[in-house]
Amino acid sequence: MKTILTGIRANSELTLGNYLGALLPMVRLANQHSADHHINIFVPDLHSIIADIDGDLQKNIIRTLKYYLAAGLKINENVHVYRQSYVPAHSELCWILNCVATMGETSRMTQYKEKSEGRESCNVGIFDYPILMAADILLYSAEYVPIGEDQFQHIELTRNLATRFNHRFGEIFTVPVKTAEQVKFMGVDDGIRIRDLLNPEKKMSKSTKAENSKIMLDDAPERAAKKIMSATTDSLGKVKFDMWAQPGISNLLQIEALVTDTPLHEVTAAWAGETSYGELKKKVADSVAKMLTEFQAKLATISDEEVYELLENGEKYANHVANAKLLEVQKAFGLR
Ligand code: TYM
Repeated sequence: MKTILTGIRANSELTLGNYLGALLPMVRLANQHSADHHINIFVPDLHSIIADIDGDLQKNIIRTLKYYLAAGLKINENVHVYRQSYVPAHSELCWILNCVATMGETSRMTQYKEKSEGRESCNVGIFDYPILMAADILLYSAEYVPIGEDQFQHIELTRNLATRFNHRFGEIFTVPVKTAEQVKFMGVDDGIRIRDLLNPEKKMSKSTKAENSKIMLDDAPERAAKKIMSATTDSLGKVKFDMWAQPGISNLLQIEALVTDTPLHEVTAAWAGETSYGELKKKVADSVAKMLTEFQAKLATISDEEVYELLENGEKYANHVANAKLLEVQKAFGLR
């Protein structure tokens, strides 16, 4: 059986960008494919500690996992939920892949450049984070990795590392499919990048300070609606999906499509040429408020115990699969 795998860091409350870019696509894929695919959903807690953590990491981890359930994830024996640090093979393979990766290719990662920019010194974890991510994926032979567009470069790096390793040692790793095919598999028109509401040139990010720039999953629905109403648009006065010329408007159309589970091309066709930005904002604000109301109500019904039970089974499975792959790699290098 093939594996579909993804992870979301639990450093803080999640944004609508995390939800629409990664969490919801994973839930939809999982529900569609879990009869004949392994579905691996994990919290990369070792990735969390490269940066500051808002609140209590343990609580954040459990909350993040509850989000998948609140978003409608259906559980069966093929759905595996685990924490990265509970499967030591991740760190072990990361070290081995460090000896396969080059400084040049790792230094080129945009996220590293952004996160280290302007700092006199940054921790080595920030530099090494894509290699750990490659280990997360390769240990489980995952072919499909639903993620937002900002992580595409890390998938390409994973593919390069796996291919280089296989070239040297034989077919040990499954190479994940190219990002263009990942997008197709996710059933979205393009990679998903939800934009900052005030500054739509940038992605919506939890680390942006201005509250009105981002919608958080615990925002009161009316508050989220107000944030949409105050989103930056443009002075062109005509609704058109064009991320370059009209990023604010295009972002709203993208949000509307994802929140209402309608193909983007249908939403853009329905609004094309409309001249009232206010009407579009009102529609998107209502859709987001409705989604948050339902999501938060569902969340309140999920207990911590439910999550711990999933983790117990998931971590047994994950250790079993990851240790078997690690052993193959250790043998290839002569470590075993
Ligand atoms: P993280 O925790 O920063 O983000 C989690 C997921 O949310 C997506 N995302 C967005 N998508 C669309 N629009 C946005 N504005 C937006 N902001 C965030 C991200 O693309 C991501 O899919 N390195 C990863 C976590 C990770 C991982 C993995 C993912 C570790 N190992 C293995 C997949 C497979 C990260 O830091 O994502």
